[in-house]
Amino acid sequence: MSTEGFAPKIERVEVSALQTLKLENLPFGKYFTDHMLVADYSAGEWRDVRIEPYRSFDIHPSMSALHYGQAIFEGIKAFRTSDGGVAIFRPSENLKRFNRSAARMEMPEVPAELFLDGMRELIRLDQAWVPDFPEHSLYIRPFMFATDHYLGVRPSETYRFMIILCPSGPFFMEPQRIFVERHYVRAVEGGVGYAKTAGNYGASMHAAAEARKLGYDQVLWTDPVEHRWVQEIGMMNVFFRIGDKVVTPGLDAGTILHGVTRDSLIALLKEWGWTVEERAISLDELHEAYDAGQLKEVFGSGTAASVSMIRELGFEDRSMVFDPASFELANALRKGLSDIREGRVADTHGWLMRVL
Ligand SMILES: Cc1ncc(COP(=O)(O)O)c(C=O)c1O
Repeated sequence: MSTEGFAPKIERVEVSALQTLKLENLPFGKYFTDHMLVADYSAGEWRDVRIEPYRSFDIHPSMSALHYGQAIFEGIKAFRTSDGGVAIFRPSENLKRFNRSAARMEMPEVPAELFLDGMRELIRLDQAWVPDFPEHSLYIRPFMFATDHYLGVRPSETYRFMIILCPSGPFFMEPQRIFVERHYVRAVEGGVGYAKTAGNYGASMHAAAEARKLGYDQVLWTDPVEHRWVQEIGMMNVFFRIGDKVVTPGLDAGTILHGVTRDSLIALLKEWGWTVEERAISLDELHEAYDAGQLKEVFGSGTAASVSMIRELGFEDRSMVFDPASFELANALRKGLSDIREGRVADTHGWLMRVL
């Protein structure tokens, strides 16, 4: 499949659902655009690439993704730019991560043409769905799942790749209360923590639900052996401003997701002259910094929320509380990132892939 050869079959909707929907302040993940992209993999090749009306499809009860969890996904955003165009933020990074997830789950690679040209073509078709309000975006969800009709435990020989789109309003804007999780675990070295695979999210829900019962919004995961080293928050990477440095957990252990937002914030921070340390961070270090008045800001980063302020790190015994109104750096990062994503400043990093 080459870029020039990228010509999906297109079946258009007869009447757009936009006729009865207003794009302002839609909740995340509930409303989908008129079309979706679909491709099927068999005999070692991706074939039958098509764009169809968004609709449900039949599933065989023995479909292997339902049983053994060979399923991966990505989350990306497209924005209306200030010149009236539409741009996608760093989708090539998501493609790399998607294929790393695929390799870990023994699933086939998805070529750039299918992933990148596919989403571009789909968004062009559904361009009227990209909201034009502050902090709004079009969320792009590429995903792949195993489709063999077979109950034997082995990698599937057939897969489906799809891209669906949903317009969404601002997400996670309120500062978060985070429970520091020291019982349940998300990821171990040698495991699948760095892969964006469905099971990671299914397995995280119980801990998040327990934390919610205590009044928290999400959990901060710690390492599985000592519950002492910080990993990441729910669906976000985590940053700490300690004195005049910024620290964030490193990627070497393979236990956290290589966040595209994380990488973008680190790049901005370095350009702004900050020292950024990517390394192991212990809860002891955080407690010491907090007691010394040096733990100045805590924030999460992710595609959905961009930069999300943390107002509490909760423990069973003693909690750390923060005043997000004083988070100058996190606020500057949020603004800096949204200025780039929405085209208000020059894209000096080449982070935007234009659709229109
Ligand atoms: C577990 C996890 N960590 C971190 C992130 C942040 O990654 P990104 O900035 O690429 O959205 C996400 C969201 O995709 C996530 O699901």
